[in-house]
Amino acid sequence: MENRPKCDIVEVLKNPRNGKFCCVVAPMVRYSRLEFRSLTRKYNVDICFTPMTIANSFIRSEICRQKEFSTNIEDSPVIAQFAANCTTDFLYATQMIQNYVDGVDLNCGCPQSWAKEDGYGCYLLKKSEVIEEMMKTIRRNTPADFSVSIKIRLLSKDIKSTIELCRQLQALNVSFITVHGRTPSEKSTSEHPVDYKAIAEIKKSLDIPVIFNGDVMSLDDANKFYEHTKCNGFMSARGLLANPALFAGYKETPLSCIQDWIDIHHQQQERMTFQNFHHHLVFMMENMLTKPDRIQFNDFTKKQQCLEFLEEKFSLTPKPINYPQNTLCVYDDSNYKQLISTEEFWTNTYSAESSHGQFFLSKLHKVKTKNDDYLEFMDNCSDLFS
Ligand SMILES: Cc1cc2nc3c(=O)[nH]c(=O)nc-3n(C[C@H](O)[C@H](O)[C@H](O)COP(=O)(O)O)c2cc1C
Repeated sequence: MENRPKCDIVEVLKNPRNGKFCCVVAPMVRYSRLEFRSLTRKYNVDICFTPMTIANSFIRSEICRQKEFSTNIEDSPVIAQFAANCTTDFLYATQMIQNYVDGVDLNCGCPQSWAKEDGYGCYLLKKSEVIEEMMKTIRRNTPADFSVSIKIRLLSKDIKSTIELCRQLQALNVSFITVHGRTPSEKSTSEHPVDYKAIAEIKKSLDIPVIFNGDVMSLDDANKFYEHTKCNGFMSARGLLANPALFAGYKETPLSCIQDWIDIHHQQQERMTFQNFHHHLVFMMENMLTKPDRIQFNDFTKKQQCLEFLEEKFSLTPKPINYPQNTLCVYDDSNYKQLISTEEFWTNTYSAESSHGQFFLSKLHKVKTKNDDYLEFMDNCSDLFS
């Protein structure tokens, strides 16, 4: 991508626009895609992460590259997050995406069981020698102003081991570290609030920038945690799904945000699936709709139904906007095909998921209708978000 402006993420983190900290969109599988990143950038977001992509699928499959990643000239600063369990996969994926992003990030935070089986996510934290080799290799093979970062969880309640790991990472010239202030066994619920004191200790013991993650549901939360930790950035996932305008100080999703979303969709109809368009609206409108309306909205299966509903309820209709052209990650992978000659490796096993995904499913409630069928709807998201 030749005319893409380059951005030094470390400089951005060290010189935040608001004079205190950078506002960051978390990596979110299925959700932190280009269109959602564009939406949040209208509301004071400084840095966005792409959804996590498995590096091994990304390098093997052109379909994966085209489905899982797109960007445009305004999508900056942006960091591509990968899950990788070996240096070669992470290096090749980085080389393929390098001209389209400002940095790459290694997911060392995912606690799910599939990650455990394949040694991805937080299970990698147990193998510091593998992380070390990955980070050294990527750093050696990328320009100094290209950001190479890592997203971790706390290793345990005893903060010493996490500090030690972070210091090792700093010594490897990692650009910055994102810390989700929970251990792998702690779920994102109010039973296990984010351990901001642990993140404050980590921040104090490092010279490189630290991004705080966990329970940032409002700008007030970010400000409060900033006072305790002085972190360089504040990353939100669930909070931004519920209210993409939170970093602009809105307490709840403003109608302008729904308008922006349908405008973006209007320009990107071919690229955006119904699911992506619909799920974001469901999350954003949770507090705006009555229960019967939520049930009705949740049941929609066509974009047109959503648009008609929004027109009737809120008088919103999509309007044309200037939206930059999409750029896909085009890469001639023939070199790699020579380097890795095992046919098995190149057999394309990637398939774009069509199911709803855990996060969405976890929020669905079933109600019995008069006809004895079950109807699914979203409710009490704010409970699950807390
Ligand atoms: C729908 C969803 C998808 C997520 N996908 C990713 C991901 O791709 N990579 C990652 O490192 N973390 C992922 N996470 C975890 C978040 O980035 C974040 O660490 C976690 O939700 C805690 O932040 P929060 O309290 O702001 O939600 C995901 C979380 C959610 C809710």
